[in-house]
Amino acid sequence: MRQLIAGNWKMNGTTAEAAALARALHTAAAGCDLLVCPPATQLAAVAAALAGSAVQVGGQDCSESPCGARTGDISASMLRDAGASWVILGHSERRAEHHESDALVRSKALAAMAAGLMPIICVGETEAQRDAGRQMDVVGTQLRGSLPDGFAGVVAYEPVWAIGSGKSATQADVEAMHAFIDSEVRRLCPGVEAVRVLYGGSVKPSNAAGLLALPDVGGALVGGASLQADEFLAIAAAARA
Ligand code: PGA
Repeated sequence: MRQLIAGNWKMNGTTAEAAALARALHTAAAGCDLLVCPPATQLAAVAAALAGSAVQVGGQDCSESPCGARTGDISASMLRDAGASWVILGHSERRAEHHESDALVRSKALAAMAAGLMPIICVGETEAQRDAGRQMDVVGTQLRGSLPDGFAGVVAYEPVWAIGSGKSATQADVEAMHAFIDSEVRRLCPGVEAVRVLYGGSVKPSNAAGLLALPDVGGALVGGASLQADEFLAIAAAARA
C-alpha cells in the first residue's frame, strides 16, 4: 500500500501563511499520498490553494456530535464543508490537555466516518510508561478503546516523549510497536483490509528514510517539519510509492 505522509500543522500561522505553504506544496509530485492538516480557521483557504493538486486536506479534531449546542466545537461535516476529507483524532496533546478518553476518541471516529471523513487515530505511550515497560499494554488499551467496529481509517503511533522533542524512537522500537499494532488492528477489526499505521514523533528529513523503510510503517505523521515545504517534501521523497 502507498505510504501516507501527513502534516499536522497544529496551532500555527495565519491564513495567509497557510495558503502560501499550501501553494508551495501544490505541484508536489510525490509517489506517496500527501495530506496536510491545518488549523480549522485555515482549512478553506488551504483547500482552495490545493484544489486540483494531489495533496489532500484534513482537520485536527472534530466533535463527536453532528450539530447543535456545542460552543467552540466543530463537527465532522463542517470540516468536510470546509474542504477536509481526513481528520486527526486522539492526538496526545488532546488526550493530555483536553482530557480526551478512548471512549470519546471512539465516538469522534464514528462521527467522522458518518460524515465521510477518514479518521487518523493517534495512540502512544508516555516516557514513564515506556520506562516501566508498559508501552504495549498502553497502546493495546488505547486501540481497544478508541477504534470503532468496522474501523477502516489510519492509526498513528506517536510515542508522547518523541513529539516535538527531537528524540525519535529507535527503528527497533518502531518496528516492534508497528508489528504489535498491525496484529492488534487485525484482531480488533476482522475483515478490514490492511490499515495503514503511521509513525509520528520528530520525523525529519534526516531520519525519514530509515523509519519509512521499516515493515508495517505505512507513512508518517509530521508536526514541526511539516511547516516548511522543503522539509515536508524531503520526507515525502523518502516514502514508498
Ligand atoms: P513532531 O510532531 O513531528 O513535531 O514531533 C508530531 C505530531 O505531534 O503529530
